[in-house]
Amino acid sequence: MRGKCRESYFPETFGPIGDGMKIKKVGVLGCGLMGSGIAEVCARAGLETLVREVSEDLLDRGMNRIRSSIDRAVTKGKLEAHDGEATLGRLTGVVDLEALEDCDLVIEAIVENVEEKRKTFVSLDRIVQDKAIFASNTSSLTITQLAVATARPENFVGLHFFNPVPVMKLVEVVRTLLSSDQTVQDATQFVEELGKAPVVCGDKSGFIVNRLLVPYLLDAIRAYEEGLGTVEAMDNAMKLGCGYPMGPFRLLDFVGLDTTYFIANIMFEEYREKRFAPPPLLKQMVTAGRLGKKSGQGFYTYEKK
Ligand code: CAA
Ligand code: NAD
Repeated sequence: MRGKCRESYFPETFGPIGDGMKIKKVGVLGCGLMGSGIAEVCARAGLETLVREVSEDLLDRGMNRIRSSIDRAVTKGKLEAHDGEATLGRLTGVVDLEALEDCDLVIEAIVENVEEKRKTFVSLDRIVQDKAIFASNTSSLTITQLAVATARPENFVGLHFFNPVPVMKLVEVVRTLLSSDQTVQDATQFVEELGKAPVVCGDKSGFIVNRLLVPYLLDAIRAYEEGLGTVEAMDNAMKLGCGYPMGPFRLLDFVGLDTTYFIANIMFEEYREKRFAPPPLLKQMVTAGRLGKKSGQGFYTYEKK
């Protein structure tokens, strides 16, 4: 194994910095809700960006999502029209994994499933240049179990972005026992270059935000099942009483009920604490195809665009 063992997750200072790989070309795996946002912010930051989907249809849908988001930024005066065009010029959608071979960093944002992610990283490891950094945007899997599927665990970190990616400032930079100081340093600098705020944290399922947020969201569903109040009443209570931008049900629909269900199962499996257990209603809604905003129906109904 090439990786060095770490004495601590949080050294006071980073170790000696070598030549420091400059990240110029980024690959993003998955052009769904998160992958499209991550690809957009990378391209907006001036980086050549490849985004990979599993089929042309899904790629078209994802690229359209990016175009609408850029149009929205231009319409709102947050981005000059020519910068919007230049951003799109730096973005290439691909279906072929081989296209990512000379990327300096690959960020994975595919479905929250350990086998799918490990399988993808094994293939990617054979294709992408050895010095490249691999990162996962997983919400709840530990990064270590993904890193050890590759021959470069020292070049592997978590980069956990938040939804909607163009708006949310935070990126959790997850260091494992095997991540090298250089990789954490490069990943942190990359996040800063995107204009985001990095927070380095340890490799514990859910990291910082989801460790605290997921039990809250699941508890809201349980309270609703118990008849505490309507979805609207509970959302309004949290918005008006706590100043949250969205109530828990609006946020659940926004994140995706399928993704929330996968996350809850993974965190429950990891911690064996009932606060992480998916409530029966969540499972039923996913089984019924009510996945939230993305499917047009969740706790609320959405107009199809
Ligand atoms: N893409 C790009 N920009 C978007 C956007 C999107 N999908 N949605 C909203 N925006 C922008 C708007 O353009 C607008 O910008 P300006 O203020 O500069 O005009 C701004 O965000 C506010 O949007 P709106 O006025 O349309 O709507 P809003 O005030 O209700 O804000 C929101 C929308 C930013 C999504 C806000 O409701 C919010 O912050 N919600 C909470 C989001 C949150 O908690 N995210 C974390 C989810 S958990 C997670 O991501 C981790 C995980 O692993 C599951
Ligand atoms: P999503 O279902 O919207 O998108 C996932 C996409 O990945 C799909 O379009 C799918 O076709 C594609 N895909 C599947 N296998 C692939 C492969 N091998 N190569 C390329 N593409 C592939 O899901 P999402 O909400 O974007 O979540 C993606 C990841 O980000 C998950 O790990 C999730 O936990 C995490 N995440 C989600 C949120 C959120 O709010 N939804 C926030 C932070 C992190």
